[in-house]
Amino acid sequence: MKERNPQTFHVKSFGCQMNVYDGARMAELLEAEGMTAATDGTEADLVVLNTCHIRERAAEKVYSDIGRLRREDGSSPMIAVAGCVAQAEGAEIPRRAPAVDIVVGPQAYHRLPQLVAEAKAGRRALDTDMPLESKFGALPARRRQGPTAFLTVQEGCDKFCTYCVVPYTRGAEVSRGWDAILDEAQALVDRGAKEITLLGQNVNGWADEQGRGLHDLIAALDRLPGLARIRYTTSHPNDISEGLIRAHAEVGRLMPFLHLPVQSGSDRVLKAMNRSHTTSSYLAIIDRVRAARPDIALSGDFIVGFPGETEAEFEETLKIVEAVNYAQAYSFKYSPRPGTPAASMDGQVPTQVMDERLQRLQALINAQQLAFNRASVGRRTSVLLERQGKKPGQLAGKSPWLQSVHLETDAAIGDLVDVEIVAAGPNSLSGAHLMRNAA
Ligand code: 5AD
Ligand code: SF4
Repeated sequence: MKERNPQTFHVKSFGCQMNVYDGARMAELLEAEGMTAATDGTEADLVVLNTCHIRERAAEKVYSDIGRLRREDGSSPMIAVAGCVAQAEGAEIPRRAPAVDIVVGPQAYHRLPQLVAEAKAGRRALDTDMPLESKFGALPARRRQGPTAFLTVQEGCDKFCTYCVVPYTRGAEVSRGWDAILDEAQALVDRGAKEITLLGQNVNGWADEQGRGLHDLIAALDRLPGLARIRYTTSHPNDISEGLIRAHAEVGRLMPFLHLPVQSGSDRVLKAMNRSHTTSSYLAIIDRVRAARPDIALSGDFIVGFPGETEAEFEETLKIVEAVNYAQAYSFKYSPRPGTPAASMDGQVPTQVMDERLQRLQALINAQQLAFNRASVGRRTSVLLERQGKKPGQLAGKSPWLQSVHLETDAAIGDLVDVEIVAAGPNSLSGAHLMRNAA
């Protein structure tokens, strides 16, 4: 392998918000090493593919992405495969794709500089350990700027849902320490963050030795001057505490939004998924959350076609969606993940059946989302401007309920503005900027 000395890098993140967070931290780490972000990803000396293993044929997509990095002159950048596919495939990656120089798992990316040094010296570098030392402690301080930021507070999962690879790729549940989290939050606010989303595979399982829970962290963030909005995701129904529900009633900066996956409306399927909650325990949580915060927007995840799912069981999923009335939701066709218990279960559902169920489920979810958005018309609310809008002169941001809102305004990205919602579509709202002191 020829010697190379990368000066520029490009990190491409796929999948969940935690990958987006990890991608930002890898970029900061490489910058701290003196490298610069390439303006054009295709020209970078080092490309990091920060992969996701949740979707169907995830590994196959990574191999074709690697192939696409080859340039016209036949050369390739230095290639690092990171994220959950790196963890799951390990040494298989350079075997199948010899252009890959580095394979690094989600718990080892703080060692990226050493791995790059190995690759520079012409050696292939692989690190899929899950070291006990804290990755977070080894990362440089936050440098990124922007009005919205992610902050990982908890990682990994001990729930072992039978369809899911996360417990294998991200490892056991670990909570970061209180001080490290608050220091990072302060650093993000100092650099302009107005909204922080606390992240974790089971974010509401966050706990420390002193018995504090996620709601205590939220209360501490609520006292940070300059921070306007707090969000958190993803929560597990089994770890919803009374304190967290109360926070939705009491903490002004905690946004009225809860992403709480249920996956199926059938208790038999939930049991086979090892979800450890039932439809009625889930609905009871929803009732309590709505009692605390009546306007809360609810979101969920659904899998259709889990092995053995019958038509009647699928219809129970439609029923729970009707019972909850979601503001938005994600739905997926079941896809076997090698090594997970469900992959070898009897009764794998044919693709056409899954396609048809997914369509019916998505039609219902889309109708609920449109109704939720339409109910916002006429409402006055705040929008945190975070990007350019659809049309020239427009900026876009999020409502407290996580709806995208587009508006014409002289305000700047990063401003929190008062808006009247004037129109609603299935995926976004249009707003009119209300001037301060107006009406
Ligand atoms: N097949 C389909 N969907 C899955 N998810 C996780 N694993 C699988 C799988 N094997 C979905 C779940 C989870 C979301 C992040 O992805 O709904 O909540
Ligand atoms: Fe996967 Fe279940 Fe853990 Fe969520 S709770 S990460 S679906 S194993």
